[in-house]
Amino acid sequence: MRVALGADHAGIELKSALAAHLKAAGHEVADLGTHGPESVDYPDFARAVATSVARGDADRGLLVCGTGQGMAMSANKVPGVRAAVVADTFSARMTMMHNDARVLCLGARVVGQGLAKDIVDEWMGATFEGGRHASRVAKMEGA
Ligand code: RB5
Repeated sequence: MRVALGADHAGIELKSALAAHLKAAGHEVADLGTHGPESVDYPDFARAVATSVARGDADRGLLVCGTGQGMAMSANKVPGVRAAVVADTFSARMTMMHNDARVLCLGARVVGQGLAKDIVDEWMGATFEGGRHASRVAKMEGA
């Protein structure tokens, strides 16, 4: 899959670890920044990644900040994008299967690298179930 990655200064280390993890699993990774340790504004990177997913340039988007919260709030402002903050593997799987959340947000100050990799694996391995979930997701978009 093609995965767009983004982080702010708080998430840059975890982003790098996850980029390497995804590449090792055979995925195509587009790192949309940030690329340095300077303090930056998370909405800029959330918008870049969410827009990439909304346009179809990426199949999935992965965002990391301190808590994941600001990234998710920002990414969810991009029409058609559903971003979820996740800190456990069950929610990671279910938010893909039931909510078609193609953008996953992680908090680098919340989860360690080992758990973050497991969360990403669970989410990447899950697919949207459609059916009754499709009409519910459509209602989010105003259907
Ligand atoms: C940066 O200090 C922090 O506010 C940011 O990474 C994120 O946690 C916001 O939601």
